[in-house]
Amino acid sequence: MIDRYAVIGRPVAHSLSPRIHAAFAASTGEGLSYDKIHAEDFAAAADEFFAAGGQGLNVTVPFKADAWRWVDRHDDTAAGCGAVNTILLRDGRRCGGNTDGVGLVRDVTENLRWPLRGARTLILGAGGAVQGIVPALQQAGAADLTIANRTRSKAERLGHQFGVAAGGLDEPKGYWDLVLNGTAAGLAGEGALVAPTVVVGANCYDLFYAADGKTPFCRWATANGARAVSDGLGMLVEQAAEAFFLWRNVRPATTSVLADLRRGT
Ligand code: ATR
Repeated sequence: MIDRYAVIGRPVAHSLSPRIHAAFAASTGEGLSYDKIHAEDFAAAADEFFAAGGQGLNVTVPFKADAWRWVDRHDDTAAGCGAVNTILLRDGRRCGGNTDGVGLVRDVTENLRWPLRGARTLILGAGGAVQGIVPALQQAGAADLTIANRTRSKAERLGHQFGVAAGGLDEPKGYWDLVLNGTAAGLAGEGALVAPTVVVGANCYDLFYAADGKTPFCRWATANGARAVSDGLGMLVEQAAEAFFLWRNVRPATTSVLADLRRGT
């Protein structure tokens, strides 16, 4: 029987993950299927998937913290962050990893070729998307890592958890090399989150993506003097590649997959 994988979330209908993994499977010659699971209850749906012989899951909004609690153990990438986006079976046990951080770092440093080591880095938002990326940014040498969030207390909680500075959205001042948007504000069309001076001269990256690459945050950052902007499509492809590697022990090429998605083909 062919090995079965899936992405689980709510909503999940528009997920690009099945397309990405189908492209990886074709390019590497790995025989596998990859579906979407729309779940109301994460644990029940995940139990059912693995009981039916499933080999691995990607986990998306809003279940990454549920997945962290559900697995039997965490690898190094997930242990400290409280969010799991990739589940695999190891010796019959459910192992949780988080490939979001690695995916972001790879997109920033290898695809975009933006410097990260020593870059003064500001993260906007303090939800699940941000939780998963902080350890990887720390490991990659981001400097003066600061989390700013609309609800200050949530930023402070993450700040405490990871040992980084934290505050409200009105607080960041001065010069930043890298500004990452991990808030959901763009879903409501909002791009202006902080004082415009914050993005002047900075590389600005949105963890969300848009078909044309121009999310509200990217547009706003460009209009306010950002050095360069990018949406998070590359991160999506790179985190998928890392998950594929964890599952299959084969590293797929990503460049053409990202280019095809960008062209909408
Ligand atoms: P996710 O798991 O995708 O990160 P989440 O946990 O609901 O989703 O977090 C959403 C993030 O976007 C939070 O940081 C949220 O700020 P609050 O903690 O204050 O709710 C942020 N966010 C959502 N809408 C926003 C808006 N209009 N302006 C600023 N921040 C917003």
